[in-house]
Amino acid sequence: MKKHECISAHILENIQSGNMLPNEKLPSLREMANIFQVSIGTVQSAYDSLEHDNFIYSIPKKGYFVLGVNERFKAVSPLIDFFSGSLDTRNIPIHDIQQCMLKAINLYTTQAYRYTAPQGHKDLLKIMKTHLEGYQVYTDTDNIVMVSGSQQALDILCRMPFPNGKDKVLVEQPTYYGVLKSLEVNNTPREGIKRGFEGLSLQELDRIFHYDNIKFFYTIPRFHNPTGQSYTIEEKQAIVKLAKKYNVYIVEDDIAADFDTSNKRCPLHYYDIHDHVIYIKSFSKIVQPGLRIAAIVLPQLLLNTFIDFHRWTDTQCATLSQSTLAIYLSSGMFKKNTKMIRDIYVKRMAKLQEIADTLNDNDIEWSIPDSGFYACMKINKEIQFDQIQLELLKNRICLMDTRMFFLNEFKNNNYLRISISKANEDEIALGINKLVKIIKNHLFDESIDAPKYKEHFDLDWIY
Ligand SMILES: Cc1ncc(COP(=O)(O)O)c(C=O)c1O
Repeated sequence: MKKHECISAHILENIQSGNMLPNEKLPSLREMANIFQVSIGTVQSAYDSLEHDNFIYSIPKKGYFVLGVNERFKAVSPLIDFFSGSLDTRNIPIHDIQQCMLKAINLYTTQAYRYTAPQGHKDLLKIMKTHLEGYQVYTDTDNIVMVSGSQQALDILCRMPFPNGKDKVLVEQPTYYGVLKSLEVNNTPREGIKRGFEGLSLQELDRIFHYDNIKFFYTIPRFHNPTGQSYTIEEKQAIVKLAKKYNVYIVEDDIAADFDTSNKRCPLHYYDIHDHVIYIKSFSKIVQPGLRIAAIVLPQLLLNTFIDFHRWTDTQCATLSQSTLAIYLSSGMFKKNTKMIRDIYVKRMAKLQEIADTLNDNDIEWSIPDSGFYACMKINKEIQFDQIQLELLKNRICLMDTRMFFLNEFKNNNYLRISISKANEDEIALGINKLVKIIKNHLFDESIDAPKYKEHFDLDWIY
C-alpha cells in the first residue's frame, strides 16, 4: 500500500468506527504530515482522494471536514464490525441502567454528589463481596477497592512498589493493548512470555520467575484478549504454585467472567491460599464502559499502598457510578440481563465456529471459545495488515490491527483478532467469508515491499 493510501485508510477507519464525527475538522496538512512523517504533498493526495470519494469536504482557508458519511454508509450497506470490544448497542438493556442511575440520584439525593470513602461506597462494597462470590472469589469487604475501571487499577499496579521488592512486570504475548501502554507511559520494566494457541509454557514461566526480577505477572486467564483462549484448571493451579515458589504476584484480569457458561471454571484467585493473587473485575464489558467502574481485590500486604496511590490519583471512583452499580446488582437486573447477553454471545460464537468449519483452510488456524467477545485467527503464512486494511474497508469490514497487542520483540504478522461483540450472526456469516477471501488474496508475497508497521496507526483505540 502506498503512503497516501495508508493515510486514507487510517482516516476512513476513524470515520467508519465513529471515532471521527460528521463535520469534525481533520488535522491540517502540516499536522498530518508530521504525524505520519511524510510530505505535505502525500497528505494532500490522501485528502484529495477522500474528497473525491465524498468522505470529506474542504472549506477554503478553513481546512478539511468529515462529511455526514455515517448516514451515507448506512444507505450503502451496513458496516460489519469485527473491531470493537464493547457491548452491541442493539442489545444493551440501556433503559435498565438509566433507571438505576435515576434511582441512585433519588435514593441518595445529596449523597449522590458527595465524596465516598476512598475504598468505595459502603453499600456497594457489601454488595460487591457477595457478588464476587458468584465468580468464586472469596474475600473480606476490607480487601475490595472500587476503582474507575480496570485500566486505572492496572496503571496504579504498574507504578506502585510491591512488597517482594521486585520491579518488572511480565505480560502474556500477545496481551490487552492497554496494559502495554500503561507499562510504556510509566516506564515500567517489562518482560513477555508467549501465549499462543498452544497455551503458555510452564517451564518458561518457571525460568522467568526464577531468573527475572518479576513483581507481578499480568494475565487474562479467561476468554483472553486477543486470542480468546482460557487456561485449564491444572494450568491455573500450576501458575499459582509458581507464584508462591518465587514470591511473584499475579494480577488476574477477569474482565470477561460474566460470559462464562460454566461455573466450574474458577479464577486463579480461588486456588491461591498464599495471598499472591490480585483479582480485578471490570463492569465495562457487561454493563457499560462509560460508567468507569471496576472492583479490585487485594492481598493484605498490598492494600494500604494501593489505597494510597488510588486516593492521590483519583480520590475515589465516582459516587454516582457506584450507587448505580449497587442498585443494578441488588435489584436482580444484572443477573437477568447478563444471562440474556451471555446467550447472545454463545450463539454468535457457535455461528463463527460453524462458518470456520465450512472454510476448512490449511493456511488458517482458529481459536474460537464457546463465549466472550474475542476469537482469533492464526495465519500460517505472513500477512501484511497494512495491505489488507483498505480492501477490508472497501468491503465494509472493520478489523483491529492485532500487532498492537505485542511488545516490539514479539511483534508478528500472523494473528488477527475477531471481535464479535458488535457483529450479529448474519454479519458473522457474511463478514467472515469475505474476510477469509481477502486474506487469501494477500498472503505474504515477498516480492512486494510492504510498508513497515508504524506506531502512529494505533493512535487512540485500545479496545
Ligand atoms: C482485557 C482488558 N482489560 C482491561 C480493559 C479496560 O477496561 P476498563 O474499561 O475497566 O478500564 C479492557 C478493555 O477493553 C480489556 O479488554
